[in-house]
Amino acid sequence: MQIGVLCSGGDAPGMNAALRAVVLTAAEKNWKVWGIRYGFEGLIDDELIFLNSEGVQGIARHGGTILGSARSTRFFHKEGREKAASVCKQRELEALVIIGGDGSYRGAAVFQAEWGVACVGIPGTIDNDLYGTDATIGFHTAVQTAVEAIDKIMDTAESHGRTFIIEVMGRDAGHIAATAAAAAGAHACFIPEQAGQLERLTVFLDSYALALRRKPLIIVYSEGENEISRPALETLLKTRYRDLDVRSVVLGHIQRGGSPVVADRLLASRLGREAILCLSRGQSGVALGLRHDGVHTLPLSECTKGRQSPSSYLLDLVGLGFHEWK
Ligand code: F6P
Repeated sequence: MQIGVLCSGGDAPGMNAALRAVVLTAAEKNWKVWGIRYGFEGLIDDELIFLNSEGVQGIARHGGTILGSARSTRFFHKEGREKAASVCKQRELEALVIIGGDGSYRGAAVFQAEWGVACVGIPGTIDNDLYGTDATIGFHTAVQTAVEAIDKIMDTAESHGRTFIIEVMGRDAGHIAATAAAAAGAHACFIPEQAGQLERLTVFLDSYALALRRKPLIIVYSEGENEISRPALETLLKTRYRDLDVRSVVLGHIQRGGSPVVADRLLASRLGREAILCLSRGQSGVALGLRHDGVHTLPLSECTKGRQSPSSYLLDLVGLGFHEWK
């Protein structure tokens, strides 16, 4: 059996651990694994490298992906998938393991239906926005990075009595924001899944209007928030509450990098191994996920239909921040 493995979409810490587990589990079964460079782009362009056990030694602790990753627009078109299918045929690839997010899953589902190449998905994105798994690979590390950054900003917020609006990643999902805000003890959090956040914040600030000077205030803002833009929020706070000294920080891509934390290494290794076991049982067209600490599978098409929202307990915890001021 010969298979291909690729990383698609934004890179996520833990992707390398998943690659390692795929290659080593395949070696256990005497299967050959080809690493496909830069996601589906590399499949279309026949950019493949042979991956053996030695080649994946020690990679689990490194962020990013040794294969490279890309968001392929060509794969969304039939001609692109046709080229990819002919590469699979020439290279005698019987199956593909795809480590990526919802766009990658959609492409893989169509590809398997059109060309019969068995596909198994592994959830790899820092955003944690895939249905069918409690966590995606990279999420825990991204949250850890965000919390460490917020902790540092908190030092300045406390020393100068400043307000910080800290924008975190997540595309249109608020998991990183809600989790990091709760863990860092932020006072407010803006996420796309919840309405009424601006009102809650202003009601609180109005009630403390006379005591706002030199108060540290941390607001975590998810990039996908749609109630109010971050610059507009900053302007509103500056004009409505003259005593607040407001700054904005965008954490950006530092959240995507770095050595994966233990939870991501284990999740990635477990799902990488399971992807091969899945294929060896003849199961494909599915994505793997973790639910209540058990690995389970869901059809690729199902995982892209819905979204889970951040747990409400996280937002309750964020709400606690205001009581620090009492
Ligand atoms: O999907 C991961 C992610 O980091 C999102 O949180 C963010 O919106 C997007 O990728 C950024 O993509 P790019 O690196 O292509 O700008």
